[in-house]
Amino acid sequence: MKNTVTTYQQMKDNHEKITMLTAYDYSTAKLIDEAGINSILVGDSLGNVMLGYDTTIAVTMEDMIHHGKAVCRGAKNALVVVDMPFMSYQTSVYDAVVNAGRLMKETGCAAVKLEGGKVVCPQIKAIVDASIPVCAHLGLTPQSINAFGGFKVQGKSLEAAQKLIEDAKAVEEAGAFAIVLECVPEKLAKMISEAVHVPTIGIGAGAGCDGQVLVYQDMLAMFSDFKPKFVRQFANVGEIMKQAFKDYDVAVKDGSFPAAEHCYKIDDDVIEKLY
Ligand code: KIV
Repeated sequence: MKNTVTTYQQMKDNHEKITMLTAYDYSTAKLIDEAGINSILVGDSLGNVMLGYDTTIAVTMEDMIHHGKAVCRGAKNALVVVDMPFMSYQTSVYDAVVNAGRLMKETGCAAVKLEGGKVVCPQIKAIVDASIPVCAHLGLTPQSINAFGGFKVQGKSLEAAQKLIEDAKAVEEAGAFAIVLECVPEKLAKMISEAVHVPTIGIGAGAGCDGQVLVYQDMLAMFSDFKPKFVRQFANVGEIMKQAFKDYDVAVKDGSFPAAEHCYKIDDDVIEKLY
């Protein structure tokens, strides 16, 4: 069944948990889609896990469109959400609408995601008014890493917790269909999830959220630069890949690969005539 923004709301209303995973390419998107995951986020985390940057700051619209297109070709039923990269919406409401429009037109995604609370509500409202669904992102918003001074849990003080609740209500009011909560204390994330009508999707925000999202390389142990506390490694695919690469290296060098079954045939009389 095709997942839409309406499905998201129905799932929250029916107390069914929503699943989301990131993907950045066709083959992975297809596997995630076939596994029945509700939605795929083409996250700007591709800057870290696909392109090897330290942060998401350098990710461009062209990067997001390139990977977003590939994911949309692989996802039949999952709702595909594409991240708006740094400086594609902060600069003005006009830029936000133009860039959200480009992401939807050029990738075929069903929604976009952007980071921030009250301060980006004019952008959220304008994008939604242009019939482009928006997922908001609060808590640890990686595009603000230089302002935060590092990857830290957000909303721990009274003022910060109150601000997060207000931001969640504001983005809902502006028209966001869902809110990603990243690195937020479990009890606060639960309160926020109960305070808004739209679904919350947690990453490092505990089980009280309406759904969960993980970066797929993290949950498959394919990314070894760092492992956030909130990640559960569901399989050690990184080790399996590394072992397979080693086995290939050995097989090529000892001559056991390629074997007869991997080779194409030609009639001997053709070969003989070549001598
Ligand atoms: O870019 C991303 O992958 C994200 C998730 C961590 C929510 O924004």
